[in-house]
Amino acid sequence: MNAQVSQAAIKVTNLVKRRETTLLKSFLAINGINLEIAEGITYGLIGPNGAGKTTTIKLLLGLLKADSGEIKVLGKPAGDHDALRRIGFLPESPYFYSHLTGREYLTFTGQLFGMQGPALQDRIGELLQLVSMEARAEERTGAYSKGMLQRLGMAAALVNDPDLLFLDEPMSGLDPVGRMDMRKIITALKEKGKTIFFNSHLLPDVAHLCDKVGVLCQGKLTAEEDLLSITPERSAAALEEYFLANIEV
Ligand SMILES: Nc1ncnc2c1ncn2[C@@H]1O[C@H](COP(=O)(O)OP(=O)(O)O)[C@@H](O)[C@H]1O
Ligand SMILES: [Mg+2]
Repeated sequence: MNAQVSQAAIKVTNLVKRRETTLLKSFLAINGINLEIAEGITYGLIGPNGAGKTTTIKLLLGLLKADSGEIKVLGKPAGDHDALRRIGFLPESPYFYSHLTGREYLTFTGQLFGMQGPALQDRIGELLQLVSMEARAEERTGAYSKGMLQRLGMAAALVNDPDLLFLDEPMSGLDPVGRMDMRKIITALKEKGKTIFFNSHLLPDVAHLCDKVGVLCQGKLTAEEDLLSITPERSAAALEEYFLANIEV
């Protein structure tokens, strides 16, 4: 294959994931989705609560196993260790060891990627600055607000300078300043050429940031479009209209 041709960062074919509701009942949380996301794209997966957005991210990361279908992330199967070294993940509700300070947590995260010494501390300094957490880095994470946890989670997701970033509801729980800051961080990452896959039901953020959007509804991708084809002026109202027109299955 010609190395010059950029491969899809994410390619998903006929993905199916069944989940149990009770011991005897199950349903298709992901019901045959196909995705192809080029490198360098910011992709927004939007959908009502329970649509399967978080399940999709967990499948792409290899945290959940698909029942059928194929997943390629950075050219490798979901959960491949070499690919994971190039991936960052901000979970929906990031969890931290409450007795560690923010700086200690980032040090621990960096060490998991084999980073150490002054290079790691320099990287942590940059990240704390990026997420505006320098002043609170020596406090225990147990005392952090939701917004501070989200900022620390973003810093942790970036410690390995990933090429591909998964963000599950990155703006949730943030106040307006926090949301603006998160937008700026994501915009800066876009400009650096990162591929970003994010879930959100906050349509103004999606309208502002994304190159392409997909609508997920009851485990099915009901629509997909370049954002500027939906709304050249990145209007949240126009995206809302598109969303509402595509959430019935
Ligand atoms: N651990 C689980 N076990 C069984 N069902 C689950 C589990 N987690 C989520 N679900 C169900 O899977 C569906 C999709 O959930 P999720 O992916 O979290 O949706 P979203 O992120 O779009 O809100 C929902 O119906 C949810 O109740
Ligand atoms: Mg979710």
